[in-house]
Amino acid sequence: MRKGFLAVGAVGLLTLGSLTACGDDSGGDQAGSDKTPKIGVILPDSKSSVRWESADRKFLEEAFKAANVQYDIQNAQGDKNAFQTIADQMITSGVTALMIVNLDSGTGKAVLDKAKSQGVATIDYDRLTLGGSAEYYVSFDNEAVGKLQGEGLVKCLTDAKVEKPAIAYLNGSPTDNNATLFKNGYDSVLKPKFDSGEYTQAADDSVPDWDNAQAATIFEQQLTKAGGKIDGVLSANDGLGNAAISVLKKNNLNGKVPVTGQDADPQGLQNILAGDQCMTVYKAVKQEADAAAELAIGLAKGERKETGQTVKDPESGRDVASVLLTPKAIYKENVKDVIADGYVTKEEVCTADFAKLCTEAGIS
Ligand code: BGC
Repeated sequence: MRKGFLAVGAVGLLTLGSLTACGDDSGGDQAGSDKTPKIGVILPDSKSSVRWESADRKFLEEAFKAANVQYDIQNAQGDKNAFQTIADQMITSGVTALMIVNLDSGTGKAVLDKAKSQGVATIDYDRLTLGGSAEYYVSFDNEAVGKLQGEGLVKCLTDAKVEKPAIAYLNGSPTDNNATLFKNGYDSVLKPKFDSGEYTQAADDSVPDWDNAQAATIFEQQLTKAGGKIDGVLSANDGLGNAAISVLKKNNLNGKVPVTGQDADPQGLQNILAGDQCMTVYKAVKQEADAAAELAIGLAKGERKETGQTVKDPESGRDVASVLLTPKAIYKENVKDVIADGYVTKEEVCTADFAKLCTEAGIS
C-alpha cells in the first residue's frame, strides 16, 4: 500500500533525485558554481497551519543536512515587514538561493525581484507568487486538492443520505493563489450541483490570512444567517475546519454536518476519527521539501534542472518551471496511511481520548 501511495502525478517522468541537470543554463546566470551553496527559506507563519513548523521545517532541514549544505530557515509569523527584513538579512548573509512561501503576491514579488537583482536564485515554495520572478515553483496539484475536497463532501453527504444539502464554503485567504486553485477544484465538483438544484449554496466566504479565530466567527455568522440550516461545510484546510467544528459543537451539530479539510494535521485526523470531520487531504510534504531542496541546491551551483512541467503565471503569462505533486484524500479508513508514511506520529494522534478510536481505525 505504501509503495506508490503518492505518485508524482503529472510529472511521472521526474523521480526525485533524477532531475536532469542542464549545466549552466540558469537564464540569469544566478549563482556561480564557485559559490558554496547556502539556502535561505522563509516560511509564512505558524498559525494558519501547523504544517509549516511541524512538517516543512523538519523535512527541509533533513534534506539540507543529507545534502550537506548550509541553510537558514526562518518564519515570518504572518508579518509582511518581517518577511522583507528576513529576506534582506538572508541576501546580505550570502544565501545562494532563496525559497519563499509568500504572504501575498505583492510582497512576495518584491522579495523575489530584489533577490534576483542581487544574483540570488529563487524558488516559490508551495504558493505561486503572481507576477513573480522565481526560477521554480514547487507545490502540489492544488486544483486536484480542491477536487478531492469537493468529492469528499459529496461522498459524506451521499453516505449520510442528506437530501438537497445546503453547503457553506470557508475558503482560504484571498491573498493566497492556492486558495483560488483549491476553490476552482471544489467548484468544479459542487457548482454543477448548485446549478441543477441538487444542492444549494448557503454561504461562500474567504477567511483572511487563513485566520482560524476569524473562521469561527465567519462560520457562526454563516450558520445564523442560514437559520441553522447548513448541511455540509467545504472548509479549505484542517484549521478552518476545526474552527467550524468548534461552532457546530456549541450547537450540538458536530458529527451531523460533514466538514472537509486539508493538511492531515494531528487535530484534523483526530476530528476525522471522532466523526466530526468528513475527510482531509494529505500532501506528502517530505516529497515537496525534497524536490525543492534538490532544485535549490542545483541553482546554488549554477545548474538549471529540468522539471518536465510548467505552470502559467495567470498575471504575467510566464511559464514557470514547476514540480506539482499528487495529493491524497483521507477518510477514517485510511488515517493510518498518514501515520505509516511518517507524516505524523501515532503518539500525536492517538492521545488518551483517541486511543480507542485509533485501535478501531486499525492504527497499531
Ligand atoms: C497551503 C496549505 C495550508 C494553507 C494555510 C496553503 O497555501 O497549501 O497547505 O493549509 O496555505 O497555511
